[in-house]
This record gives sequence, C-alpha cells and structure tokens, in this order.
Amino acid sequence: MPTQDRSALIDDLFDDLPQVHKDLGNPEGGVWRTDRSCYELIAAHCDQGSRTLETGLGVSTMLFVRLGTHHTCIAPWKSEVDNLLMHCQERRISTEHLTLIQGFSDEVLPTLPRTELDLVLIDGGHGFPTPIIDWYYAAGRLRQGGILVIDDVHLPAVQLVLEFLDADPRWNGIEKTPKWVAYQRASSGSLQEEHDKQGFWRGSR
Ligand SMILES: C[S@@+](CC[C@H](N)C(=O)[O-])C[C@H]1O[C@@H](n2cnc3c(N)ncnc32)[C@H](O)[C@@H]1O
Repeated sequence: MPTQDRSALIDDLFDDLPQVHKDLGNPEGGVWRTDRSCYELIAAHCDQGSRTLETGLGVSTMLFVRLGTHHTCIAPWKSEVDNLLMHCQERRISTEHLTLIQGFSDEVLPTLPRTELDLVLIDGGHGFPTPIIDWYYAAGRLRQGGILVIDDVHLPAVQLVLEFLDADPRWNGIEKTPKWVAYQRASSGSLQEEHDKQGFWRGSR
C-alpha cells in the first residue's frame, strides 16, 4: 500500500474511533490509544497478509484489520471484544483475517501455536510481570527481522523489558519516543535461555 494510502487509512481511524472502551472507564473518544506516530510505524511495516499479534485492543486492532494482516488480538473484557466486532459489522469491514481471543494474555499466549510472526504490539496489561510475559511468549515468535512495538514505556514493568532489550544486541532499536518504542529482532526462535548467555545484561554470567 502506498505511504499516502496508509496515512489516509490512519486519518479514517481517527475520524471514526472504535469506541470499544466506553464501558471500561470511558476514556476520551471511548478508546484508549497511543500516538499516531506509532500507528504510522506499524502501517509502514505491515502488508496485507503480514502475520501480526497484539495484546490489548483498540485503534491498533482496527489498523491491523484495515491493513488486512493475519492478526491475533488478545483482550480480557467481553464488552471491548463485542464493541470491536460491532464496530466492524456496522461498517461492513471484514474481520475474516482477525482472530480475536477474549482472555488475559498470560493465560492465552502460552496456549497459542508457536508460528512465526512479522510484527508484535505489546499494549495489554501493564502491571508487573505482564509485559514481560507478553514479551516472552509473543516476541519469542517473531521471525528474524520482525518488529516489536511496545507502548506505555513510562511504566515500571515496561521499563524492565526495555532495559533488557537495550542491552541485548539481538534487539535493534528502530524508534524511541516518550510514549512507545520499536525494535527489530536480529535473532529467531524461543527466548528461553540460560543466564550465562546473557552476559551483556547486568553482568549476568
Ligand atoms: C491501552 S489499551 C490498548 C490500546 C490499543 N493498543 C490502541 O492502540 O488503541 C489496553 C488494552 O489492554 C487490555 N488489557 C488489560 N489487561 C490485559 C491483559 N492482562 N491481557 C490482555 N489485554 C489486557 C485492556 O482491556 C485494553 O483493551
């Protein structure tokens, strides 16, 4: 998709916000979201058919749906899941390539097939240790060269993940903002490993 079409798509999303969180604290516009620049980065790295996964749901989910990626989304609350599906139905937007799983990411992620992914967005639960669990199971499925996006970088549990990623030469930072960050993975396969392979981090030997 040409850059200007991606930009127009994001304009559309902001003009017609999916009010999926209106029953969950009713944030401004009815949906919790991140900065437009984050959606631009995601759109720049996805094509129709890209394999994507996110924890949490919102404007980002609509972006993946509209980009036509093969997308898995995990979110715990029935109202947000129902609201998103209704938003799509009312606009005749196909959800053919969306797998929307209602549940908590720490319970759902370990049950999913370990197929490779092109892009992962971590923006679900932000309490310790959820972002770490999300990173372990979701980012562990990224192919070499795949993209990891993490939102709400000011939160302490997220900062723990970033401290490790910034030290690990197998994750190359490609964009860093006060709200979100993105890395490109230089390795592949499971993230399970012993501490003696992590000498780059806090002298772990
Ligand atoms: C900040 S919002 C996500 C915003 C979305 N990424 C966007 O850009 O619009 C956080 C989402 O995470 C969900 N959530 C909270 N705890 C979760 C958990 N343990 N597992 C998965 N999702 C969770 C919330 O219900 C909410 O949908």
